[in-house]
Amino acid sequence: MASSFLLEADKATWPDTVQGTRQLYDNWAKTYDPELKQHGYNGPTATVKALVKWVPDKTARVMDIACGTGLIGEELLKEGYSSIDGLDMSAESIKICKEKNIYGRLVCSEVTTNRLDIDNDTYDATVCVGCFVPHHMNEECFPELARITKPGGFLVITMKQAYFDTSEDYNYGGKFEAAIQSMVQQGKWEVVARDHVEGYFGEHNGVTLVFKIM
Ligand SMILES: C[S@@+](CC[C@H](N)C(=O)[O-])C[C@H]1O[C@@H](n2cnc3c(N)ncnc32)[C@H](O)[C@@H]1O
Repeated sequence: MASSFLLEADKATWPDTVQGTRQLYDNWAKTYDPELKQHGYNGPTATVKALVKWVPDKTARVMDIACGTGLIGEELLKEGYSSIDGLDMSAESIKICKEKNIYGRLVCSEVTTNRLDIDNDTYDATVCVGCFVPHHMNEECFPELARITKPGGFLVITMKQAYFDTSEDYNYGGKFEAAIQSMVQQGKWEVVARDHVEGYFGEHNGVTLVFKIM
């Protein structure tokens, strides 16, 4: 049920509160991996491919924001990255991550505009995959993602193309493009890549955005 839910997902079918979103992932944690893999989810490979290009040093400190059950961590490990932390607001998903023994520090927290319990300039790379979705995260958290990433480090975001294109319609903060440009104008980051992800999830294409933190 959860998988067809995701394939059909649009603004009408996502939970419309943060509590509902957290509950969804807590309930889903145990079956999330096989369901996503069954649908050929390309988010982890597309993201790590971009990371290998921009952050080739495999000892780089990486933060996997909204790490869920750790699919990105698995892909990072496969590519040889050895210092991986994760953060997610779903405690049940974090439990699955712990069992995989891939992550160093695991933080159970919600990403908003509030300060996370992470020092400034901690990570060489921050990755966010599949979390810019209605009632998940929105572009208001861009400054916080930039804050925890070192100057000269990279932020990699992979998301469904439709959510990027129509973020305003989905009423979850919206206006990605304007928020990205505002960060450029404030001298917080540079946009270094915007890659098309064919078949990101099922028939849905995606986009990988790469930012160099200033
Ligand atoms: C579609 S899953 C993606 C998980 C993982 N990144 C992947 O690609 O498999 C979305 C994840 O975002 C988490 N999430 C949603 N909104 C969040 C927020 N505001 N702060 C932290 N985690 C959030 C959910 O708990 C869930 O694990």
